[in-house]
Amino acid sequence: MEKFYATTAIDYVNGAPHIGHAYEKILSDVIFRHYTQRCDNTFMLTGTDEHGIKIQKTAAARNITPKQLCDENAQQFKNAWKALDFDYSHFIRTTDEQHVKVVQHIFKKLTEQNDIYKNSYTGLYCSGCEAFLNEKDLTEDGLCPDHLKKPDIVSEENYFFKLTKYKDAIAKHIKQNPDFIVPAFRANEVLNQLENIEDISVSRAKSNVDWSIDVLDDSEQGVYVWIDALSNYITAIGYDTENPAEQFNTLWPVDVHIIGKDILKFHSIYWIGILMALNLPLPKHIFAHGWITIDETKMSKSLGNVISPTGVLESFNLDKPDALRYYMATAAPCGKDGNYSDIDFKEKVNAHLANSMGNLLNRTLSMLVKYFDGDIKQEFKIKSELSDKALKIVKEVMHHFDYFEIQEAAQKIMELVDDTNKFITDSEPWTLAKNSETDKCGQVLTTVLDVMCVITSLIYPYCPNIASDMASQLKYDLKSTKLQDITTDNIKIGHLIDKESIKPVFLRLDSELADKTKALKV
Ligand code: MSP
Repeated sequence: MEKFYATTAIDYVNGAPHIGHAYEKILSDVIFRHYTQRCDNTFMLTGTDEHGIKIQKTAAARNITPKQLCDENAQQFKNAWKALDFDYSHFIRTTDEQHVKVVQHIFKKLTEQNDIYKNSYTGLYCSGCEAFLNEKDLTEDGLCPDHLKKPDIVSEENYFFKLTKYKDAIAKHIKQNPDFIVPAFRANEVLNQLENIEDISVSRAKSNVDWSIDVLDDSEQGVYVWIDALSNYITAIGYDTENPAEQFNTLWPVDVHIIGKDILKFHSIYWIGILMALNLPLPKHIFAHGWITIDETKMSKSLGNVISPTGVLESFNLDKPDALRYYMATAAPCGKDGNYSDIDFKEKVNAHLANSMGNLLNRTLSMLVKYFDGDIKQEFKIKSELSDKALKIVKEVMHHFDYFEIQEAAQKIMELVDDTNKFITDSEPWTLAKNSETDKCGQVLTTVLDVMCVITSLIYPYCPNIASDMASQLKYDLKSTKLQDITTDNIKIGHLIDKESIKPVFLRLDSELADKTKALKV
């Protein structure tokens, strides 16, 4: 693999980040970190979507300028991603000067080549979606089905993008590339939407939406926020209509756009049409994840159940985000909806990270110290079925990641953890030691520790801090071991560890603390 370029959706900054935003960024970071273990040139893009009527209205209600609102909330998103150890390469804000300039050039180019034209239009605009809706998509009461609000009737002269010109080519691309939309079951949904597609309005009258990028040569029009937002994927890496930067040429086409299922239409239809019009190669994959509910209920401000990711960390007294990352990344099968609950969170990470994985390392190292003063001898190194299984699991995990099956990959890792626990239980190294079957006992422990190194590499994308603690106790070179080169000969012969250096890598979550989360809403 030569390079890996992934993007997240860029979040609206009309509020603070919640657990739904965090779900996507955690999934993205897990995917990204996994690919850093497979290739050297990787790039992860995230950021904030800062223009549009929604931001304009929120700022007006707070009596501050839109830019002040954006600055305040963009910083909150950055803080949250830092707390979650989201290791992005670049954070784009759509108010960045360079982005604004390139969006204007894109708009101009498409106008000059007649892909954009002017027309009068009357439509129903939902500011929650930042999109025009069709009458037939509304609820019986005439409300937007997602935001349960009445859309505004907007009558404007707008610029339109000739999406219909690209309709057939988009459908053909989707049909010919079954792994273009992930999970595949969403492709039909998109193909159905494509059938009724019309040209789309790509500008708004400045008199109605002042907080937008100016259309060049037309002081009365601003660029529609979705065109502005989608362009971030290329402006952030140096695209320009005239002379794209070297970085753009190296990274584009993107390997995966990671987005929520609610915005798949914008990515797999609108964005693809624009890329076709710009004559640019298309994304390799668009991965639409599901939505997160709270205690099985849709998250909403009116229900008061909107949870902040940093609030969860605080309420459980967690100074590292690994447990929350693991829980969220494994919350749902690929593309399906998932749920957050305090109880479930606590139970799952205690069972998987503390009882199964952490304990396994702890007791194996403790036995190595007890029976062998922490030394690994040459005669302890043997081949075993468990090691073969570990290498098989590495391949299976990589395969799951190829299809963005993050929960499924984690299940494989836990299967290896369980098998390793079973291997210890079945082999009874404590009995071998008691019976003076010294080499055999050493072989069991060394086999387990070698496999623990494999587990360390595999769990790293989910739990980078825990993995790094495991690696240091195992003296394992986590950073420079690529997954495709992984072996089961990882533990060095000689002195491995002293008693004082053995530390639990994950402490069980305290049940007393759980309910405090409820007090920490966005
Ligand atoms: N600004 C647009 C995206 C533009 S991308 C060029 C947007 N912003 S958003 O803030 O509403 O959502 C950002 C991302 O968070 C989207 O991918 C959305 O699906 C995701 N989620 C928002 N709420 C969510 C949940 N409750 N659960 C999971 N993901 C959720 O859309």
